Amino acid sequence: MSVFEEVQHGFSMPLSEAMETQRAVRRLKQDPVDDETLLAILRLATKAPTGGNAQGWEFIAVRDPDVKHAIARLNRMSWSLARRMYAKKVNGDQKAARMLEAVQWQADHLEDSPVIIVACLHGRGFLTPMARSSFYGSIYPAVQNLLLAARSIGLGAALTTLPLWSQTLARRTLNLPRGITPVAVIPLGWPVRGGYGPNTRKPLEEVLHLDHYGNRVFLEA
Ligand SMILES: Cc1cc2nc3c(=O)[nH]c(=O)nc-3n(C[C@H](O)[C@H](O)[C@H](O)COP(=O)(O)O)c2cc1C
Repeated sequence: MSVFEEVQHGFSMPLSEAMETQRAVRRLKQDPVDDETLLAILRLATKAPTGGNAQGWEFIAVRDPDVKHAIARLNRMSWSLARRMYAKKVNGDQKAARMLEAVQWQADHLEDSPVIIVACLHGRGFLTPMARSSFYGSIYPAVQNLLLAARSIGLGAALTTLPLWSQTLARRTLNLPRGITPVAVIPLGWPVRGGYGPNTRKPLEEVLHLDHYGNRVFLEA
């Protein structure tokens, strides 16, 4: 079992290394995550920017078995539908098949995560694209800080939204007032296996345009 004293040196990991090796770690041990570790990574999460510096965020750290069970149940409900869509995509793709297995493992064990963070925002989202972008964009930088901080100390974490398919049920589970919107759910725990490693993404050149969409000079270089 790891405790803060043993892992805190990880925070000095070079930022680029943390970014290149941060990936969804879904298989977690049941060993507890101590308060000091939890507070340290959440403190780093709250160093993120928000629209107008509003900092309209709330974080629920769920350790209660009943609440974790309810979140796991919500996750299983939407995963039972989403799984069919993902299964179709696998079609011989080993990487996609491994991801499917990991998501299934997480669905089967979510309530055993030592702690589940639910990142929330004040407000309820908006109708105009700009307001919506600013609303949801005011929690994801904090979530990414959280993921990078967890990665640097070797604490497993994965961003999920499947448990939030019903805002009503999520609100009821967490006793959230109507004015608070849950946006992301992040189970945390020490990885069952090695956990982190190089992540794979599309080459930058495939998604980079100069001045106008479609001007792919970097692809041609
Ligand atoms: C907005 C968002 C929602 C996500 N929701 C889920 C989810 O509900 N369940 C899940 O297992 N992973 C979820 N993920 C994680 C992605 O599947 C994962 O980041 C992606 O497959 C890349 O995996 P990797 O980081 O391990 O390479 C989500 C990621 C994002 C950015």
